[in-house]
Amino acid sequence: MLAANTALSLKKRLLHPAVKPLLFLLCLLPVVWLIYRVASNGAGANPQEYLIRATGDWTLRFICIVLAVTPLRTITNTPQLARFRRMLGLFVYFYVVVHLLSYSWFDMGFDVPDIAKDIAKRPFILVGFSAFMLLTPLAATSFNAAIKALGVKRWQLLHKLVYVVSGLGLLHFFWMRAGKNNFAEVFVYAAIIALLLAWRVQQFLKKKKLQPIKNGGQSLSN
Ligand code: HEM
Repeated sequence: MLAANTALSLKKRLLHPAVKPLLFLLCLLPVVWLIYRVASNGAGANPQEYLIRATGDWTLRFICIVLAVTPLRTITNTPQLARFRRMLGLFVYFYVVVHLLSYSWFDMGFDVPDIAKDIAKRPFILVGFSAFMLLTPLAATSFNAAIKALGVKRWQLLHKLVYVVSGLGLLHFFWMRAGKNNFAEVFVYAAIIALLLAWRVQQFLKKKKLQPIKNGGQSLSN
């Protein structure tokens, strides 16, 4: 009884108007921390490389967080969590833009023809750039007006691209680490993303099973 009441009050608290701004500040903490570490000479011998890599890590972490919202919402029966998904999705884009800018600045000196050549020459950069390109329409259509203009079905279909992005992000990371033969972290992220996607496949199959059998059949849920 006490546990049920605590859960209920926690769910109610998620609707408090202060929660969204607080989450916004929490999502900004990694970038503030990275800037602080660089400014205080705590980012090692190569702060530029540190920034490129750390922002790549945070992009992948936010992809995992976004993919975790729906399973968490369903498993804990907390529909209130849905209201944070859009913001979390936009933070994926924020971190990938900072990652891309760090690379463009520190590795390439903002030389656009050189960046284009590098993207074409190095497969792991091409894969990362493709993930960025696919994320762009998702970020651009994450507003209510875009949902209205596209229609819910088409919007939902478009936003399934996040699964492709998660695969490309992993491949990008794997390819980069392959040169160093260092796969431990790649496998951790791969396991998390595989688990989150497997949950979705399982839900999809469950829903399909419960759908009314067409051609005069009876609904299994009846
Ligand atoms: C969704 C898109 C992306 C994700 C999830 C992602 C993720 C990552 C991750 C996890 C790392 C390795 C960090 C580490 O070693 O700890 C990384 C490194 C890197 N990424 Fe990305 N990235 C993405 C897009 C891009 C784009 C668009 C570019 C540039 C066009 C890029 C360029 C790089 C570079 C240059 C490195 C560092 C390579 C090195 O230090 O040897 N990434 N990225």
